[in-house]
Amino acid sequence: MKRIGLVTSGGDAPGMNAVIRAVTRVAHSEGLEVLGFEHGWDGLISNRFRMLTPRNVGGILHVGGTILHTSRSPEFRKPEGVRKAADALAVNCVDGLVVVGGDGSMQGALALSKVSDALIVGIPATIDNDVYGTEETVGFDSALNTAIVEIDKIRDTANSHDRIFIVEVMGRMRGFLALTIGLTVGAEVILVPEVEYSLESIVRTLEVNGAKGKKAGIIVVAEGIGDTHKLMREIAKKAAVEVRLSVTGYAQRGGNPTARSRLLANLFGEKAVQLLLNQQGTMMACLENGKVTSIDLKEVCSNEKQLDLSLMKLAQTLAT
Ligand code: F6P
Repeated sequence: MKRIGLVTSGGDAPGMNAVIRAVTRVAHSEGLEVLGFEHGWDGLISNRFRMLTPRNVGGILHVGGTILHTSRSPEFRKPEGVRKAADALAVNCVDGLVVVGGDGSMQGALALSKVSDALIVGIPATIDNDVYGTEETVGFDSALNTAIVEIDKIRDTANSHDRIFIVEVMGRMRGFLALTIGLTVGAEVILVPEVEYSLESIVRTLEVNGAKGKKAGIIVVAEGIGDTHKLMREIAKKAAVEVRLSVTGYAQRGGNPTARSRLLANLFGEKAVQLLLNQQGTMMACLENGKVTSIDLKEVCSNEKQLDLSLMKLAQTLAT
């Protein structure tokens, strides 16, 4: 192992830069050269990269986004695109590649590992925390904290006006962000795609709370449940209460990574380089029982991470 590549792919996540810094510096400390492919898989397909050195990755640890840029690459979804990416690794004598991203990026990493001679290792980094095999992804904690800061402020207005607020958070079709955010802001109702809900039960909860003198409320909704504007109108009509909608949106993707996201980035970065040095490809760095370890990419890509529904019950108990 002499030269490794690094690519950030899919949605950016706070802590990706910390991963770039960690991989580059650990790799250099082991005598490896590092090529940073730019704009996600597109950078491999079009052979666009820059050399990463311990010095030129300075000053990025605390910065959100990714200095390598990222993309969602339609071309990489085709076998021809994967083939071109493998060619770029071969032509540049890259012996190992670190792929930093979410679920889709890990699928891409596995596809590439099937046609490339280079060893491929993944680092899970997405605000959605929906990657199987790891308790946490880089960026998840940062997105949680961004949302919490915003919702705590919304709570002030909800209390002052005796209003119900629906707060839509990201997470694609999964509820990891919504559930954890809901629990940690004390949401009165949490809606996630994994759990069926009924308008009647939401209204009942609001009515029971109202009868207890609790007129304000926060309903945290995962974007994956669908049309939140419609939901707002339906709740307002049925419960005869004032309802407002606030969408946290892309603000959750940016900003400085929290200490926890930085720590994971550093530990996963080190692990990924160690895996490559040990000639272990088609693997992903992961967090299991609070410890950094690794898991086969095939297992990651053939399983679905489960939401801990006991947290939903706890959130309901605590929001009385
Ligand atoms: O995967 C991260 C994420 O922010 C999801 O929460 C969201 O659904 C999606 O990306 C948005 O994707 P795009 O950046 O392509 O609009």
